Amino acid sequence: FCAAPNISVPCLPGFYCPANTAQPTLCCKGYLCSPDTKTIEVCPAGFFCPAASTRALPCNFLAFCPRGTTAVEKYGLGAVLFAFALMTMAVFSVKKRIFHAQRLRYRQRLRELGDNSDDLEDEKRQKKEAAQLAQSFDIRFEKLGLTLPTGVDIIKNISGRLITGRTCAVMGPSGAGKTTFLSILAGKVAKTDGSIKVNGKEQTLSLWKKLIGFVPQEDVMLSDLSVREILMHSARMRQPVHMSHNEKRLKVLEVIQFLGLGHIMDNPIGDVETRGVSGGERKRVNIGMELVASPSILFLDEPTSGLDSATSLEVCKLLKQIAQEQFLTVAAVVHSPSPHAFNQFDDLVLLGSGGRVVYSGPRDEASHYFESIGYPVPEDESPADFFISLAAGRVDKSPRTPEYESQEDDDDDAMTYGYQETSKSKTPHCHVSTMALHQPSRPQSPTFSVPISNLAGSSADTTDQVEVIKNQGQGFWTSLRMSFITSWADSVSYIRDVFGEMGHWLWTIKCKFTGEQDPVRETPSFGSVFILCFKRACLQNYRSQMGFLSDQSLHLACGLCVSFASKDMMYTPRQPAEICAMAPPAIQLSCATPLDDIRYVGMFMSLGVYFAGISVGSSTFGDEKAVYWRDTSAGMPTLPYYLAKILADVPRMIVAACMYTGAFIFFFAYRQQLSSLFLVILLLYINAFSLGYFVSAVVNRSMFGLAGTGMSLAWALVLSGTAPHLYKVMNSGGYATVRWIWDVSAPRWGVEAFYLKEMDSRM
Ligand SMILES: Nc1ncnc2c1ncn2[C@@H]1O[C@H](COP(=O)(O)OP(=O)(O)OP(=O)(O)O)[C@@H](O)[C@H]1O
Ligand SMILES: [Mg+2]
Repeated sequence: FCAAPNISVPCLPGFYCPANTAQPTLCCKGYLCSPDTKTIEVCPAGFFCPAASTRALPCNFLAFCPRGTTAVEKYGLGAVLFAFALMTMAVFSVKKRIFHAQRLRYRQRLRELGDNSDDLEDEKRQKKEAAQLAQSFDIRFEKLGLTLPTGVDIIKNISGRLITGRTCAVMGPSGAGKTTFLSILAGKVAKTDGSIKVNGKEQTLSLWKKLIGFVPQEDVMLSDLSVREILMHSARMRQPVHMSHNEKRLKVLEVIQFLGLGHIMDNPIGDVETRGVSGGERKRVNIGMELVASPSILFLDEPTSGLDSATSLEVCKLLKQIAQEQFLTVAAVVHSPSPHAFNQFDDLVLLGSGGRVVYSGPRDEASHYFESIGYPVPEDESPADFFISLAAGRVDKSPRTPEYESQEDDDDDAMTYGYQETSKSKTPHCHVSTMALHQPSRPQSPTFSVPISNLAGSSADTTDQVEVIKNQGQGFWTSLRMSFITSWADSVSYIRDVFGEMGHWLWTIKCKFTGEQDPVRETPSFGSVFILCFKRACLQNYRSQMGFLSDQSLHLACGLCVSFASKDMMYTPRQPAEICAMAPPAIQLSCATPLDDIRYVGMFMSLGVYFAGISVGSSTFGDEKAVYWRDTSAGMPTLPYYLAKILADVPRMIVAACMYTGAFIFFFAYRQQLSSLFLVILLLYINAFSLGYFVSAVVNRSMFGLAGTGMSLAWALVLSGTAPHLYKVMNSGGYATVRWIWDVSAPRWGVEAFYLKEMDSRM
């Protein structure tokens, strides 16, 4: 072109300069200029031509590019989304049929079982099975106590004995320490005083956790699964490996029949938000989860609360029956049982306010004992109710009987007690002075939670476990220090558990070669646990269809928002010097500077992925922490569970990345290969889900949103290499000590990959 009458300048590629041109014309969008700048044509079909094109760019995957296309139309995306929705519906419908057929089969088996319930053969089989599995446990506990780090006694000086074939009722007013007492016995909470002897040997019962059934006070179970699925999973995880699948199924059906759950066995459990089985039915499932594992020791924390009196009586009868027939050691916390239900128990441990034992011995001797120390059971009152009022210190004393008077007078310490074995029952008989009946309630003052390490694995009272009761008396710093100690102890115990598990796993591998067997119970191996947990996790994903839909909507919405925000963002390269020289002086500088919005698109993209990914990922473990505690306390190893949950999440991550990519390219005119864009988004999603898992492990459920948002901003915004600019981070001395954080940040690499791929096609 002629810059001046006598000066001709070669035209630059991307401009159109036919003969006799005084000023070059930028090749308009929708047109293609030849590299020699002399010819121009409309962009051919199947390609698209942005402004200054010297080569036509091939139309993107699933896009529509007629002749003269400037930017791709993405109608194909809609069709793909529609096809995906149809495919998902087809999969769900096939699954539904399979589940329906399975349901019918189970119903049929349950009916057959009902018809043959009087079968002698069956009874013989059950007894044989029980005898094979049962191991007798004589548990003697002496002066058991738990003192919190703050010096507050939760329970103190509890002695007594649990014997195979006998049932023991643990009673006392609310807050007396019944749950704590059971948790200590079961080895879920570490005692600070006293001793526990198992079959005469001092040891903790946690060694036998595969044989212990612990029915927690709260009904801790997965709400999406059905009653049968929950029981079946429990049986498969905890029954010995030598039992066949059919035998386990039969056991589950027997328990279902026994607990009267047949009519709701295919109903989901439900929770406060989703209606499922009733409260009483949930309680029965809670008990069933332990019964299907054929334990040798059974601890139950309020198994009858929420049940009507007839069902409570049935449960108490059931406990007596299984203790006698299956040689179980049973201890159950019961609140206000009816006289008939109370009579089903052989022994009684009565705790008073302040965690002191009031009575420990045979149940049928309790009335006589209290009468003899001046507290006769009134005729018009049920013994159980009277004992609880007595233990709460709400009963006035009648004139005393001399038999025990001298004992009380000797007591300096209100907790002195006699401990004897009655020749008749061979059970311990522990009674305290009447002063123990009037112990003041435990001081409400400075209390902290027992370190979670001590509670690790305890599912019994999850609210108690996680609750850190603030010490108003000792101030903020003491609270902070105690929280720190608690978290530290918690982490140490968690790491110790994981290493312990790995050690156990290596030991099981060794046993495969040496032929050794687990002396307690040979339960499913690492691989089998992984498969069982994987199946359960897939089932959970399948069941939470509404959750799945809302997750996908979230990914779509985030992708669409980011896409819309990036709609007009582009990269305008630095203009050739010859062109800038012709520009007015005021814009010459900006003419020579490239306009780069693509890195911001990368940052927005990673921000959207992290917002959606962290919030969805945190729901994987966050919703079932309590279930995890319950399962691990019953012997489930952590590692296969964790791996199974993650593997079951992989399809969710892939679908999330598909949704997000589809939405993201809706408005944004991307130039790179769709496959590379998808790969970057998928990898970012994997990282975002992992951060979600981390968030759910370290913070409480109520903090998930806050922690997730903070993490998204920190990672996807600050550590993406966009703002602050990666060049500055890598070259400025001020960042020298923290540079490594960018090196390990996934969004920094993700945004960089996205940027380079986009630039490749723009240069
Ligand atoms: N980890 C803990 N930190 C602080 N206090 C605790 C902890 N665990 C238990 N306590 C307190 O110890 C007392 C006994 O608790 P526990 O749950 O054993 O009572 P309970 O007899 O089972 O009561 P309920 O009948 O209401 O279930 C309560 O006052 C409780 O607040
Ligand atoms: Mg309790």
